[in-house]
Amino acid sequence: MKARTLRPVAIARGARINVALLALLFIAFFTGWIAFAFATAPARWSLDVHAAGGLAILALLPWKSMIARRGLDRPRAGRWASILLGILVLITLIAGALHSTGLLVYWGPLSAMEVHVGAAIAAVPLVAWHVFARRVRVRPTDLSRRNVLRAGALAVGAAAAYAGTEMLVRASGMPGAVRRFTGSYEAASFQPDRMPVSSWMFDAVPQIKPSAWRLSAGGREWSYDELFGFDDRLTATLDCTGGFFSTQDWAGVRLARLIGSAAGLSIRVVSATGYGRRFPIESSSSLLLATRYGGQALDPGHGFPARLVVPDGRGFWWVKWVSRIEVDDVPHWWQSPFPLQ
Ligand code: HEM
Ligand code: HEM
Repeated sequence: MKARTLRPVAIARGARINVALLALLFIAFFTGWIAFAFATAPARWSLDVHAAGGLAILALLPWKSMIARRGLDRPRAGRWASILLGILVLITLIAGALHSTGLLVYWGPLSAMEVHVGAAIAAVPLVAWHVFARRVRVRPTDLSRRNVLRAGALAVGAAAAYAGTEMLVRASGMPGAVRRFTGSYEAASFQPDRMPVSSWMFDAVPQIKPSAWRLSAGGREWSYDELFGFDDRLTATLDCTGGFFSTQDWAGVRLARLIGSAAGLSIRVVSATGYGRRFPIESSSSLLLATRYGGQALDPGHGFPARLVVPDGRGFWWVKWVSRIEVDDVPHWWQSPFPLQ
């Protein structure tokens, strides 16, 4: 059928599907990042919405493919960008499902989770362009009772589909059955030598000589031997946004001891690479600067000479190769929610 001869009802349905897709893409993207921000219960709540949102996108794809076919029939610039967007959304959905079912958690050096998030981020500018270049007209009648009911039915159906897939994963004993509430898979707990190495984005592992290394904290410098002499202990789980978690026995020194009586609103912990995160001053006795895990010294990949241990914080809070700990009056929330380097 030629697009020009389409009946208004088909055009209105197309607009409805496109707007629903836009809302769902936004929900999936937003809840994905909320999940990355937490290593506590809110991660699961947002992932439940996230997964249902992803399945709702999947459910709309047959309708969207009709719209897309109509669009592709028109000779217009930018169709390749739309097709690329389609490919990225499909990669995101497939990698998400592979991760959650556990059918393929690693793909060479990449984890399914890294592919999932990478494809989703790459899709963002294309979605922005697509929505701008292929504008839909939203009319007040789009908020009719019938459409609200349709949206509700889609939400309920997607939630049921998600519950169904989760039950299937568990009942059939797929590898995904054992993932943590954050979606991460257990890796080498209490086996420090086998613990995976990962870093947020661009940090490369620095080679640091302990004799030349000094930690600046609490108005003085600490040598490696001095820090190694402390034996505060903590068993804590590093939950990496790359898709794995690992529990280890960490030993080192509580930050409260290092900063002494320094007054301020927050503590900034900075790596030799320049990477840094800020924490509320009240957390100084729950944060540990570790020099050992599993009774042995850290290795370079895991933050030698000293790394931060942040119970209940996702991996990107666990600053490695720490060289400076500062207390100042900047509020702890005054930082990008996710590191930018
Ligand atoms: C618009 C883009 C996105 C879509 C359509 C999408 C969709 C999905 C889908 C369908 C799943 C599998 C759910 C299941 O069956 O259990 C999933 C899992 C997951 N996604 Fe996304 N996602 C998107 C972006 C993101 C982003 C940006 C993040 C993080 C910043 C993220 C984090 C996760 C996590 C952690 C899981 C694992 C959940 C689990 O295993 O329980 N997603 N996603
Ligand atoms: C899952 C996300 C989406 C994918 C994969 C996708 C893909 C496509 C493709 C491949 C086409 C045909 C090629 C073209 O016209 O450039 C197309 C057309 C179109 N898309 Fe999307 N799109 C998505 C989301 C959206 C959203 C969120 C909107 C608007 C809110 C939208 C509005 C349109 C419109 C108006 C057309 C033209 C239809 C026509 O000419 O009859 N799309 N889309």
